[in-house]
Amino acid sequence: MKLINGKNVAKSVLEKVKERTLKYEKKPGLAVILANNDEASKIYVNSKEKISNSLGFKSSIYRFDKTVTQGKIISLIHELNENPEVNAILVQLPLYKHLDQQQIIELIDPKKDVDGFHPINVGRLNCGLKPYAVCCTPKGIIKLLKAYKIKISGQSVLVIGRSNIVGKPLSALLTLEDATVTLAHSKTKNLKSLTKNADIIISATGHPKLITADMITKGTVVIDVGITRQLTGELVGDVDFEKIKDIAGYITPVPGGVGPMTIASLMENTLELFEQQNKRQE
Ligand code: GUN
Repeated sequence: MKLINGKNVAKSVLEKVKERTLKYEKKPGLAVILANNDEASKIYVNSKEKISNSLGFKSSIYRFDKTVTQGKIISLIHELNENPEVNAILVQLPLYKHLDQQQIIELIDPKKDVDGFHPINVGRLNCGLKPYAVCCTPKGIIKLLKAYKIKISGQSVLVIGRSNIVGKPLSALLTLEDATVTLAHSKTKNLKSLTKNADIIISATGHPKLITADMITKGTVVIDVGITRQLTGELVGDVDFEKIKDIAGYITPVPGGVGPMTIASLMENTLELFEQQNKRQE
C-alpha cells in the first residue's frame, strides 16, 4: 500500500501560490459567504480564512444567522461583483434551506466564480473549453493523482456520487484526461461488480464504510472524498481504510487526503482569477 499524503502535496501547491502572489503589488481578494449552521462548513470557512491570510490575500468572510433573507444575499453578491478589490467569490454550500441556492450561484459573476459552479463555467468545462475556474475538489483530486504519477489516461475510473460539487465535474475532468469514467450513485445496482473492475475508485458519498475490503481488487487506487464526523468526534471517510489499506495500490487517508487539496485549489483559483482580471485591465 502506498499512502497518498494530501497535506504534503497541498503544501507544495500553496508554496507556489505564495511565491507567485509575492510578485504582485496588489493582492488577490477572496470573499466568502457563510449562510448555514453546519459545523463542518464553519470549520472549512475558518480554515479558508486562515490559509488565505497566510498567503497575503485580502479575505473577507460574511457570516449570516438564519434570519438572513434571499434579498440580503442577492444584494451582497451584486456588491461583490462590482467591487474591484474582490477577485473571487465563494458561497459555502449548503445554504440555509429557505434560501434558493441555484439563484444565488447564477448571480455570481462567472469571472469571479472561484468554485466553478456557475452554469457558464460548468458548461465550458463540459464542452472541453477553459472555464474561468475549475471546481476545487475535482481539480485537487486530479492534481493529487498526477503528483503520485498515477496513470489516468485509458484507465477505468469509478466515481461514486453524482453531486454538482464533486461527482459530475470530476467525471468531466477525468474524461478530458482520457479516462473511461463510470459515474455510480445511490440507485446504482451491484456496486461491487463496478468497484471490482475499476483501476481507480473515487468515492464521494458521505456514507462511512460504503467501500469494504471485499469490494476491492489488489492494486486498485482508492481516493476517499467522504468526510463524516462520528458521534465520537472522529472524522471518517467512505472507505474502510484499515481493512483496505493493504489491498489498495494507493489510498488516501481521511483526514489528510483530499481535504487539504480542496483548499489548495481554492487558493490557486483565487490567484488565477486575480491574474485573469488584471490581464483584462491591461
Ligand atoms: N461545500 C462542500 N464543498 C464545497 C466547495 O468546494 N465549495 C463550496 N462553496 N461549498 C462546499
